[in-house]
Parts: sequence; structure tokens; C-alpha cells
Amino acid sequence: MIDRTTKDKILAATRIEEVVGDFIALKRRGANWWGICPFHQDKRPSLAVSPSKGIFKCFACGESGNAVSFVMKHEHLTYAEALKYLAKKYHIEVVEKEETPEEIASRLKHESLLVVSEFAQKYFQDVLWNDEQGRAIGLSYFHERKFTDETIRKFGLGYTPTRPHTLIKDATAKGYKEEYLVDAGLCIRREDGSVVDKFYDRVMFPIYSISGRVIAFGGRTLKSDKSVAKYVNTAGTEIYNKSESLYGIFQAKNAIIKADKCILVEGYADVISMHQQGIQNVVASSGTSLTIGQIRLIKRFTSNITIIYDGDAAGIKAAVRGTDLVLEEGLNVRIVVLPPEDDPDTFAQARSTTEILEYLAENERDFISFKSDLAETDMAADPLSRSKLINDIIGSIAVVPDAILRKEYVEMVAERFRQSDADILAKITAIRDEKKRQTQLRERSLEAQLPPAVSQETSAAEDFGLEPVSESYVQPEPVETNPYVITNPLLAVQEKELTDYLLRFGSYPLHFEKDMLYGAMPAERIDVETYIREALRDDDIVFANRLYRELFDEYYAFAATLPQEMEIRERQGAIARHFANLENQTLLRESLNLAFDDQELTVKVYRDTLEPEEQRLGDTVPKSMILYKLRITEQHCSDLSAQISAAQRDGDDATLRDLVQRLSLLNKVKLQFSKELKRL
Ligand code: CTP
Ligand code: MN
Repeated sequence: MIDRTTKDKILAATRIEEVVGDFIALKRRGANWWGICPFHQDKRPSLAVSPSKGIFKCFACGESGNAVSFVMKHEHLTYAEALKYLAKKYHIEVVEKEETPEEIASRLKHESLLVVSEFAQKYFQDVLWNDEQGRAIGLSYFHERKFTDETIRKFGLGYTPTRPHTLIKDATAKGYKEEYLVDAGLCIRREDGSVVDKFYDRVMFPIYSISGRVIAFGGRTLKSDKSVAKYVNTAGTEIYNKSESLYGIFQAKNAIIKADKCILVEGYADVISMHQQGIQNVVASSGTSLTIGQIRLIKRFTSNITIIYDGDAAGIKAAVRGTDLVLEEGLNVRIVVLPPEDDPDTFAQARSTTEILEYLAENERDFISFKSDLAETDMAADPLSRSKLINDIIGSIAVVPDAILRKEYVEMVAERFRQSDADILAKITAIRDEKKRQTQLRERSLEAQLPPAVSQETSAAEDFGLEPVSESYVQPEPVETNPYVITNPLLAVQEKELTDYLLRFGSYPLHFEKDMLYGAMPAERIDVETYIREALRDDDIVFANRLYRELFDEYYAFAATLPQEMEIRERQGAIARHFANLENQTLLRESLNLAFDDQELTVKVYRDTLEPEEQRLGDTVPKSMILYKLRITEQHCSDLSAQISAAQRDGDDATLRDLVQRLSLLNKVKLQFSKELKRL
């Protein structure tokens, strides 16, 4: 936790060209500096750094942000870590923020669980190497599996004996609290209140966090007795969330960055054996199917995943299940199938590093040929299953977010199945459109809960003896995983435009002096931010898309902190600086995209009209606002039409009449907005 003043000091000292310049060579051209973008395979300098704005943007891959974001992204750090990095560079002492008693308690608890886990790891390790039973049973087991001493140490492996030697006894004797041993998942409290070990008579695999702290354990039994669970694992605790952890990530992360690839296997032993044979960019999902959280963890280091699964049927099935999720996250996925009798552990143990690498290189394939081959062996020449297979593959391509990548995949499928690109593309477009429509529908019914933009018409509505238009809709469950995903594309364009006016011209008067000459009284002089806020408030409108809603809220919250009397440009500068230093990276990026566009936009508008944009605000901003309200009304109309069709189907005449009346009313509102637009 870094306190506000220190943060401001760091940001004030930071020169973005110096920060970026530490990582890549920059050359000055005009107001900006340019360099080879480190975030994609850049061939010529596409990355622009603006010292005056304190921001960077790659014009090829679109990556953008401020100095903090650059360090976060380049060095794979969190926001706080990146600030500390900058503090060190500029010799600023970091004062940690004072914590509340709750924060202290929770941090201490967290830390205590980590400390207890570390103690347990050392304890199990000590038993393995130094206890008679540990050496005879545990160590010789690992040796049998051909793990070297170096490997056993590197992965912190251990052994937990049978009673009476127990962790709980030795740990409490050393002063560790029972409560923490239980909460860290190492011990279990029985019904009668007594506390016993969770793990005994097992070899122990500690699970490390990304920064190398012990957070959990997997314990393997040495018995072949089927009634004993082969592995016992820590369940979820305050320091361990299984679906966001990967076994081996700490030992693998540097190798992953270096290879720009992460190899994914199933089990503990698979990671360890591959590692021992020199393939170190390997992690395991620990027997469960891959989760989004795990994929995002990998995404911090690379966008290439290669899944290696056992050659048996279960392994192949698991590999198929993993692919769509990875594709959906925008990563490249390749698959390697091992010989049927092998898992990565036995496979690696039996081969030299070169042999393994050769096998991987030869057998690694993209998901299209993987799925195709798989299906072809299964079902030979049956045309029905063939089209099912093509549709399955097309379904996978449709989830890929990147259009260029999608196109590449389409070409591959077209070639392999001798179909036309256009046919496949059309199918993909249909799938994506349908998905979009579903989200839109969901969002629209949400939208309909907002009071409609027709308040000036309520008296007319009452004349007709009608209720106001907003109806009670059933609230659908939100499904997006990315909270900033554009959920209402129809309204997004206008919401973006209004946000854009707000961020760039919020402090400017809506009308300049020359307009004032023609009638408007000085008292009516109103600035853009007030106009936008009031115009939305008049109709109780809240932006439908969270991205713009939060930028909007951020704007007014910050504007409220500025002194009353401030020169326009100075005020606008303070606002720009505030947005260029946002902690929330999604909001930051969106606001910067607006900032970087401004020169082009202003020049273009100037060329078109010979009048600077800020002098046309009285024209452009209200126009944009009415267009927005018109859009909202249109959306209500189309909802009503859908309800009308439903009522027609059901033969519900009373409802139908009611709906038709409302629709005609809304159409009048629409007409009025359209007229107003033309008048402006
Ligand atoms: N696993 C588990 N609980 C089980 C079985 C498996 O948590 N009862 C997880 C473990 O993380 C294990 C992985 O699933 O490493 C793969 O399971 P499996 O292939 O059965 O084990 P191996 O890793 O091959 O273990 P070993 O080589 O020691 O038999
Ligand atoms: Mn195995």
C-alpha cells in the first residue's frame, strides 16, 4: 500500500521517455519519440511516446498507457510493484500507507498462513532428508522415480510420516497456532475439538505461488491399495485458490517468458520430470480441466500455450475440452499427443532433451488439424459426421477474438476440407452475430428497466390514460467475464462520443462569444460538462455500457475536487493528467485512446470547417446528445415490436392494443428527435 502523496510524487518525477527508453531505443521525431514496440513482433518503429502527455501508444498493435502501465506490462508487475520500480529509479522513498486495524488483522492472518505453510514445507522436507523413515520410504521412492537430489530440492519435495510423528505436535511445540494450521489446510479439527494432521504417510509436493511462497500441498500415497486416495490436496484456503494457481508456475515463469511459450501438462510428476530433462517452461493444472483464471495467469507471460496430454482416451478428451477456453481468451493453442502408453513423466524420463524437443516440434499441431485427425480416425468417410466435425471446428474458430487469426484458421479449414473461404466465413459471421444478438437482447431488457427518454411526453401518455413506458422486466443474469465488455453496442457509439466530448472539452463553454451576440444571455452560459450532465439527468439516463459509465463517474468525481476559479486550459490539463494516471488499466487505455486521437481529429475538423472544434461545441455536443436519446428510443421501439409479435402469437388482444398504442407514442417521440436533429 503506497500512500497518495508518495504516489503523486512518483508520478510527478516520472518521465515516460526515460522509463520506456530504459527498455527500448527511442528516436525523436516531432513532438513524439518513436521506437520498436516490445509488445508485438514489430518490424519498424510503431510505438509513439508523448513526453508532454506522459503516455505511449503503439500504432500497430494498439497497446497504450502511461509510464506505470508500460512497466507493468513489460516487467509483468502489479500496479503497486510498478510504482515501487519507478520510485527506485527516481530515488523516491516509498512510505507505506497506514492501514486500518481490519487491514492489519487480515494482512497478519494472511501472512501467518503463509508462514505456517512455509514451516510445514520445511518440516516435510526435513523428515524426507533426515528422518530414518523419511529416507527409507520417501527419499527412496523419489529416487526410484529417477528424481535427482537437485530436482527434489528445487521443488521442495518432502515426506510426512505415520503417527506418532505429526506436524501438529511439532508445530504447536514450536509456537505455531492450531488455528492457523487448520486455516492453512494442513490440519483438520475433529468434531470433538481435537486437531489432527490432514496429510500423513505420503510424499509431499508443495505448491508455490507465482512469487515463490508455499500456498498449498499435494500428498501422494505410496500404497497401491485402491481404497486409498492416490492424491490428497489442500482444498481452498484464504491463501490458495485452486482455479487460479498452476503447479510449477514459480519454477517455470522465467523459462516461459524466454521461450514465449507455456507447456501445459496434467500432473505434479509430469512437471518435475520435464523440468529435470531440461524443458522448464512447464506447468500443470493438477488434474482438473483448465480454468479461465489459470489461462489468465499464463497470459501474463506468453500468448502461446501447448497442451500435452496423455496419449490415452481420457487425456485426449481433456485436451479437446481445454482448447476452446484458451482460444476464447485470445491465446494461440497447440496440442501434442504422446504415444498411447506414455504420460509426460514417463515420456520425458525415457528420452534425452533433444529427443523430447524433436518430438514436440514434430508432433505439435494447431487445434484444427488436431481435431480433424482425431475425427478422421474415428469415423472414416461418413459424410454426416464429417459435416458435424466441420461445424465443431468452425464453432471453435468463432470464439477466437482476433479477426486476423480467425481468417488464418478459416483458410486452413477451407484448404483441408476443400470448401470455399466465403462459406466458412459466412457461418462464422452467423455464429458471432447470433452471440452478439443474444448479449444485446439481454442488455436491452436491462436497458428497458431504465426510465425511458420520453419524460417530456409523459403528459401526453397520461392523456391516453397510459402508464409510463418502463415495464418490469425480469433481470437476466449477467454472464460476461470481462466487466468492461461492450454490452450494448448500439448505444456504445454515442456513449463513447459523449465521453469523448466530456474528457476533451468538459471545461469549455458550450457557446462562444460570437453565439452570444445573437440573443443568448450571459446567464445562460453553460459549459460542456454541465450540459451533458443536465441533459442526461433530465431524462434519467445512465450510460448502458459500464466502460463509459465509469469514465463518466470518474470525470465528475474528479472535476468536483478542482478549484472553482480555474483557467479553461489549465483545468482541462489537470483533467487530462488525472486520466493519464488512472490506476484502472481498462479505463486508462480508453481515455488515452481519446487523448491520442485529438490532434488528428482537430486537424480534420479544422480542415473541414475552417473552425476549431472547441468553437463548434454548441452545435456538435447537443447533436450528439439528441442522437443518443434517439438511439435509446429506437431501442425501446424495437423491444415493443418484439413484445407485440409475442402478444400476436398468444392472441392476447388487450395487451396487444396497449402495446400498439405505446409504440405509436414512442414513434412520435422518435419523430420529434429526428426533427430536432435536422433543425440543429
Ligand atoms: N490428481 C489428484 N487427485 C487424484 C488423482 C490425481 O489431485 N486422486 C491430480 C494430481 O495433481 C496428479 C494429476 O491429477 O498429479 C494427474 O493424475 P494422475 O495421472 O493419476 O497422476 P500422476 O501425476 O501420473 O501421478 P503418478 O505419476 O505419481 O502416478
Ligand atoms: Mn504419472
